[in-house]
Amino acid sequence: MTALASDSSLETDTTTAHKASPDGFNLAALTALTVGERVIDPDLIPWVPYIEGVDVKPLRLNRKTGIWVNLTRVVGGGVVGRHYHGSSVVGYVLEGSWYYRERDWVARAGMMIWEPPGDIHTLVTNPEGTTTLFLMEGPLFYLNDDDHVIGFDDVLSFTKMYRDYCEANGIEALDLDY
Ligand SMILES: [Fe+2]
Repeated sequence: MTALASDSSLETDTTTAHKASPDGFNLAALTALTVGERVIDPDLIPWVPYIEGVDVKPLRLNRKTGIWVNLTRVVGGGVVGRHYHGSSVVGYVLEGSWYYRERDWVARAGMMIWEPPGDIHTLVTNPEGTTTLFLMEGPLFYLNDDDHVIGFDDVLSFTKMYRDYCEANGIEALDLDY
């Protein structure tokens, strides 16, 4: 475990904290490895029709890692069919509310939901619909009632869907592959 130095100058000027540090965390090497920050303006990204009553606005489509982040908008009482994810998922409800048919809780605006990998669920919205941010890694698999896989989506399929929609509608597709 590395102890932080008790240097009062670090407390008064956090913008230069890393410069004042002896680089005990090897931040210079990390900076050389990673990419620069990205600032995504959702106003520049269209709502892409996904399934009936459900549109998605991709904010991150990282094909190198399989990480993908979407705003999901469901109009009215809609359904995202029964599925599970290969990795855990974080959801943050921005508007409206929804629930899983298989659970007894309701996700309302302001709530965060974490789902373990393999959790089978069917997303159902209340009449007001919802806009929810989902952070995912890896594919999700749609299932029938016999638990047979009947479809899937992942960062590759969503990248294609986004780019195809932009091309068909004369919209410049952003580079979301970060
Ligand atoms: Fe899900």
